Amino acid sequence: MNVNAQPTAQAVVEGKTILSIKNLESYYGPIMAIRGASLDVREGQIVTVLGANGAGKTTLLKTISGVMDPEKGQIFYAGQNIAGANPDKVVRLGMVHVPEGREVFPLLTVEENLKMGAFTRSDADGVARDEEMVYGYFPILAERRKQAAGTLSGGQQQMLAIGRGLMAKPKIMLLDEPSLGLSPILVKEIFQIVRRLNKEQGVTIMLVEQNAKVALEVADYGYVMELGRIVMADTADRLLASKDVQEFYLGVVEETQRGQKRWKQKKTWR
Ligand SMILES: Nc1ncnc2c1ncn2[C@@H]1O[C@H](COP(=O)(O)OP(=O)(O)O)[C@@H](O)[C@H]1O
Ligand SMILES: [Mg+2]
Repeated sequence: MNVNAQPTAQAVVEGKTILSIKNLESYYGPIMAIRGASLDVREGQIVTVLGANGAGKTTLLKTISGVMDPEKGQIFYAGQNIAGANPDKVVRLGMVHVPEGREVFPLLTVEENLKMGAFTRSDADGVARDEEMVYGYFPILAERRKQAAGTLSGGQQQMLAIGRGLMAKPKIMLLDEPSLGLSPILVKEIFQIVRRLNKEQGVTIMLVEQNAKVALEVADYGYVMELGRIVMADTADRLLASKDVQEFYLGVVEETQRGQKRWKQKKTWR
């Protein structure tokens, strides 16, 4: 194998790395939630991180976006190591985090929530254009623009949370379990829009999910996380076809129960 030629070939096929995480460790007090995770996200792709409840997916995203500080490791983004950076700074560098459980401002209107998403920007015209762009992707939000966000359905709140993220004009969006608590039809609808945002707006997406099937259907590449570690990495197509992934996730789907106890009974990959 010609070692020297390899990086060039890879760059052509897969694009450049926009986010690179090396040996990350994060704690809650004495509890080690991320145990030396490393992964790469290529520009323009949808990369998913799959894992059961408690695997560390949310902690991983919080550490990347600066909501939590890591104990060890590096997070290379925009030409620098952003590990431990202030969340504000991370947003200014073009990375937005759409948190688990939507977390919209319930008493503010849809419109006001969207404006909050643009807090780092001073280009009023661009902000107004992007608000219309969000309404284009999520027409229901346009209909409800004067309505308090707390009165929206779960699916609409998820759309608003994604829309609010878009208002920062991100290069990369970290999406934490957008499917949680939504009907399969709504999940499909939202994931189709995520895919369109990726293709049409060029937003790189890092999507963490328990719902492996829908995530792998939209993703280019995937990682499997277990107890704070990355245990598998492959193209989304190959993960979808993998017996291990099928076996594990079919079990979860059959039981429709996603608790820690259930997970402990399932096979692991280590
Ligand atoms: N605020 C917290 N305090 C203490 N432990 C936490 C806290 N949040 C999460 N954990 C623990 O960290 C681990 C990873 O959790 P989390 O990142 O939320 O996983 P996931 O998003 O994959 O469900 C779990 O063992 C969880 O119990
Ligand atoms: Mg989570």
